[in-house]
Amino acid sequence: MDKPFDLIVRNAHVATAADLFHCDIGVREGRIAALADRLPPSPATREIDAAGRFVTPGGVDSHCHLDQPMQPPVRMADDFVTGTRSAACGGTTTVIPFAAQQRGQRMFDAVADYHRRADGRASVDYAFHLIVSDPTPAVLRQELPALIEKGYTSFKLYMTYEDMKLDDRQVLELLEVAREHGAMVMVHAENTDAIAFLTERLLAQGKTAPRYHGLSRPSPVEREATHRAISLAELIDVPILIVHVSGAEAVEQIRWARGKGLNVHAETCPQYLFLTQDDLALPGFLGARCVCSPPPRDAANQQVIWDGLADGLFTVYSSDHAPYNYDDPAGKHLGAREPAFPDVPNGVPGIETRMPLLFSEGVLADRLTLQQFVALTATNAARLYGLYPRKGTIAVGSDADLVVWNTGRPYTIRNRDLHHAVDYTPYEGRQLQAWPGMTLLRGEVVWDGERFLGREGGGTFLPCARPEMARPRPRAQSWRRWAGLEA
Ligand code: URP
Ligand code: ZN
Ligand code: ZN
Repeated sequence: MDKPFDLIVRNAHVATAADLFHCDIGVREGRIAALADRLPPSPATREIDAAGRFVTPGGVDSHCHLDQPMQPPVRMADDFVTGTRSAACGGTTTVIPFAAQQRGQRMFDAVADYHRRADGRASVDYAFHLIVSDPTPAVLRQELPALIEKGYTSFKLYMTYEDMKLDDRQVLELLEVAREHGAMVMVHAENTDAIAFLTERLLAQGKTAPRYHGLSRPSPVEREATHRAISLAELIDVPILIVHVSGAEAVEQIRWARGKGLNVHAETCPQYLFLTQDDLALPGFLGARCVCSPPPRDAANQQVIWDGLADGLFTVYSSDHAPYNYDDPAGKHLGAREPAFPDVPNGVPGIETRMPLLFSEGVLADRLTLQQFVALTATNAARLYGLYPRKGTIAVGSDADLVVWNTGRPYTIRNRDLHHAVDYTPYEGRQLQAWPGMTLLRGEVVWDGERFLGREGGGTFLPCARPEMARPRPRAQSWRRWAGLEA
C-alpha cells in the first residue's frame, strides 16, 4: 500500500499548457503523486482547499538579474534573498538568472562566484544561464563544454553594451560551441555602433534626459541586430532565442525567419506590454525608472506584442527583472546626481508583477487562453532550458510547484506591498483583477496571499539538461559543407 500523501490540494481548476481539468492534487515528498477526481482523506495528510480556483504551474522566470556583479558604484538592489522572496509572492517558483563573465575572468570563476551569492539564500528553485563576454579559446574549447556537461546549458550573448558586446566573429564562434554541445543561446539584439552614433549626436545637442534613451535605440537598431543574429544562427544552423523583443520591427524579422523554416525563438517582457515611450518622458528624472533596453515603444507596438503572444510567435514571457533603486547613487541616480541617459543603469524591476499582470490583462481580458498563459509563463521556459517535466507543468512526477489564483476582486499594485528590495515599481497604481492567493514550492506554501512563508535556502539549484529545443533541425545548405562545418 502506498504511503499517504503529505498534502492534498482539493477542488482545483487545473490549467496546463495543453488542458483544463478539475481535480484533487496529491503530493508526496514534494512531487505530484496523483491527479484524481476525489482523493481519499487520511489523518496523516494536510489539506488545502483550492475552492474551485484556477491552479497553474509555478512560474519559471527564465530571464531575471539578481545580485549580478556590476561596475561600481552601480549595484543591484535585489540579491537572492529578496529577489526570490519577491518571485515566490508573485507566483514564480523557479528563476534562471545569469552568472556573468567579466572580461578577463574565467567562466568557472564567474559560476563559482554566482553560486556563493545564491546557495543557501534562495527561497525558490534556481538554475543559471551564463553570460559570455570574453570568448577566449579556453572559454570556447574547455570551459563552456565542461559547464554545459554540468548543467549550465544556456548562455546569453550581447550585441551591445561596451563591457559585454561580442562582434559577429565572436558570435559565430559561440554559436558553433552551442551547436556542438547542445546549448541554447539567448541573444540581446541591438546594433551597438548605431546606438553609439545616435547617442553622440543626442548628447552633442544637450539632449541628456531619460526620454532620449528611447531615441538612441529606435526600432531599426533592434531590427537590424535581430536580422543579423538570425542570419548568423542560420550560418551555424543552430536554434537561438531573441530576448526582450520590444515591438513590430523585430517581430517582423522573427516572423520572416520562421517563414523560412529557421528555428528562432522569441521572448518578450511586461515592459513591452505595459509601458511606452511616454513613461520615459515623465517629468524631471522620473523617466529613468523605465530606462531599459530595448526601450518601451508605443501603443501600436504594444499591440503587436500582444498579437505575438496570442498567435504563438513568442515562446516565453519573462520579467527581465533588473533591480536598480531609483533614489540611490548605486542605482538610477548614479553617484547621487541625475546622469545623462547613457549612464542610467538599464532595466526595470518586475519579478513579482510578471505573472499577475499577464493573468489579469491577458487571460481575464480575453487576449490569451489560460493554457497559453501557462505555456508562456512556465512550460515553454522549462522546455527551452532543460527543466521539463520536473518544472513547468502539473503532472504526476513533476515538482509540486503550484499557484492558486485569486480572481474577481481588484488588486492595486503598490510598491509598498511588493517583496523586492527596489524602491519603486513601474506599475505603481495599476489595477489588476488577479493575484496569487497561494504559491507552493515542492508542496510547501511559500506565499499564502498575505505573507511570505518561504525560507532562505529553501530553494535548490537545478542543473539543466541539454534542451531538446536547442537541437538543430539540420537543413541542407551547401555553404555549410564547403566551409567544412558538416560532412
Ligand atoms: O535593460 C535591460 N534589459 N537591462 C537588463 C540587462 C539586459 O540586457 O537584459
Ligand atoms: Zn539584454
Ligand atoms: Zn536582462
